[in-house]
Amino acid sequence: MDHELYLEKLKTSINILSDILDTENYGMCIVDRDGRIVLWNYEKFFHLKESDVLGKPVTEVLENTRLHIVAKTGVKELFQLQQINGTNVIANRIPLEYNGELIGAAGTIIFRDTKELGSLYIQMEKIENSFKAYQSEIAMMYRAKYTFDDIHTINDKMLSLKEFCKVIAQSDASVLIRGESGTGKELVAQAIHNGGPTASYPFISIGCASVPTDQLEVELFGSEGIGDAKPRIGKLELADEGTLFLDELGSMSLDMQTKLLRVLETREFSRVGSNKKIHFKARVIAATNENLEEAIEGRRFRQDLFYRLNVIPVHLPPLREKMNDLPCLCEVLLPKPRFGYHQEKLTIDKSTYKIFAKHDWPGNVRELRNVLERASIVCTGPTICPEHLPEYLQKYNLSSSGSAGKGFYRQEIENLERRLIQNALFNNQGNKVEAAKQLGIQRSLLYKKIKDYGIET
Ligand SMILES: Nc1ncnc2c1ncn2[C@@H]1O[C@H](COP(=O)(O)OP(=O)(O)OP(=O)(O)O)[C@@H](O)[C@H]1O
Ligand SMILES: [Mg+2]
Repeated sequence: MDHELYLEKLKTSINILSDILDTENYGMCIVDRDGRIVLWNYEKFFHLKESDVLGKPVTEVLENTRLHIVAKTGVKELFQLQQINGTNVIANRIPLEYNGELIGAAGTIIFRDTKELGSLYIQMEKIENSFKAYQSEIAMMYRAKYTFDDIHTINDKMLSLKEFCKVIAQSDASVLIRGESGTGKELVAQAIHNGGPTASYPFISIGCASVPTDQLEVELFGSEGIGDAKPRIGKLELADEGTLFLDELGSMSLDMQTKLLRVLETREFSRVGSNKKIHFKARVIAATNENLEEAIEGRRFRQDLFYRLNVIPVHLPPLREKMNDLPCLCEVLLPKPRFGYHQEKLTIDKSTYKIFAKHDWPGNVRELRNVLERASIVCTGPTICPEHLPEYLQKYNLSSSGSAGKGFYRQEIENLERRLIQNALFNNQGNKVEAAKQLGIQRSLLYKKIKDYGIET
């Protein structure tokens, strides 16, 4: 039996079959391997008689057809949505073989429930649109606040680090930010996210130390809502195409480390209580102030996870190693003037800077921010002076003026004197003659005091 004969037989059987098939909503068309129509059972849908189309290339008769392609590739296509005359139909395309040789293709379409299909389409479109709206809502909710412009520095090392971070922001490689507490790890992580191509996607932060170990898994992976419990979306899912920021990484339990490593290696995860795989698309930035090498040695941290995350290491220097940044940091961290409070911009006295320079700043920039915030509340005048600083910093003041062991009484008198002079200068817009007059002292004495106390005028 040759090909043509085979096709003929097939046609006959199909014609017999079509008597029992649901011909109302169902149609069939067969093409030979050149894509020419050999059977046409679509009359009722297209108002074209079989005799008119037999032998014609199917591409000339049917809109959006792929039958001629299936007749060439031999790859079947099932349940495809196809638009014909503005309506969606479900199409199947099956290659026909005879003696192991491709001889054509059969196409079937189902017109049934097209109305339902139409409304299904509208529903799907609606769901898709609201999904997109939620996605951008999530991105808005979990927006990273800081950008590279918020990293203030004039320090050479920090400046080149900032430039380096701008470059790596463009990639999606994992970053491990290390540095003492308060050195700006979160600030840098946010700036990297905002400086990169996925800035409009969410920045999801999770503090591994602040979530109890037994809750961290659900927090990260989400859960399927077993029993009455509602399903929960995890941070891995929320981060989607954005950034997952794993803060305080060193506190993560070994068990969680193993689970996280698996996600990073397979780029897949499942919600707790589910087997369904979800693709993990986010970039990972981790941060820690712990000595991870020691933790690895002590078997508290997995070496393989360390290597996975440490693709791009970023090491933030402590404040004591970038003391030339003090003035510019003070400038941005000093609370801004507020109505009814400090209406003038606050300045920092030279002697205050001298104290700052002597301190080690174990809490780094965050400690500096707190010190300045406190000082701005305590200080009633326009200038922040040593007496506005917390006690633990005052000790540097005593030793600096060579008056170590100076009695409390003398110290307090000096503080008061300094404040009086500063206020007088402020009230007289820095005019020393007027300030001296207001204070009722000689101008020369005022000059001497200004010099002794290092008051800025
Ligand atoms: N170079 C900088 N310029 C401006 N502000 C900075 C800079 N570095 C740090 N800060 C500020 O210092 C504070 C602490 O920064 P951040 O929270 O990023 O520190 P961290 O390293 O994450 O600290 P921790 O280890 O305690 O979590 C923030 O208010 C941040 O804005
Ligand atoms: Mg932090």
